[in-house]
Amino acid sequence: MNGEIERNPHLTPEVMVKVDELIDHYRNRQVNLIPVLEECQDIVGYLPVELQEYIGRGLNIPGSTVYGVVTFYSYFSMVPKGRHVIKVCMGTACYVRGIGEVLNRIKSLYKLEVGSTTEDMRFSLEAVRCLGACGLAPVIVIDSDTHGGISPDQISEILSRYE
Ligand code: FES
Repeated sequence: MNGEIERNPHLTPEVMVKVDELIDHYRNRQVNLIPVLEECQDIVGYLPVELQEYIGRGLNIPGSTVYGVVTFYSYFSMVPKGRHVIKVCMGTACYVRGIGEVLNRIKSLYKLEVGSTTEDMRFSLEAVRCLGACGLAPVIVIDSDTHGGISPDQISEILSRYE
């Protein structure tokens, strides 16, 4: 399995030093996996299966248990995220105000599917439930910026601000 770690270009020795520090910090404790995985995802950017196995071995937890937690929470990602994450609200208010057209425009502009990342790692696209800003519908959030009342024709200009 260490071979798989070495073959993953995102799991560099520098990254793995931080992962090992994290595992050492939680070793021999009553471990709540969620904060460990959150911190690990902050370090690496995502949680590939080989890393889940590695964490499991370090903490003496079956890899299948780690996998179960990662796949249960949508917050965790098993694929690399882009530099910017676009969250498109698919809640009812946004839906009736035309978020579908906005989403289609993003998909076609960047040849991007929901749950995927552009080849240049610039954008990842996620469809999410109500973002709690229904008064601004239709809404997308890019990183931590909320953009409300948007139309498909504005998308290109908005996204051009995010390199
Ligand atoms: S439905 Fe989109 S913010 Fe609530």
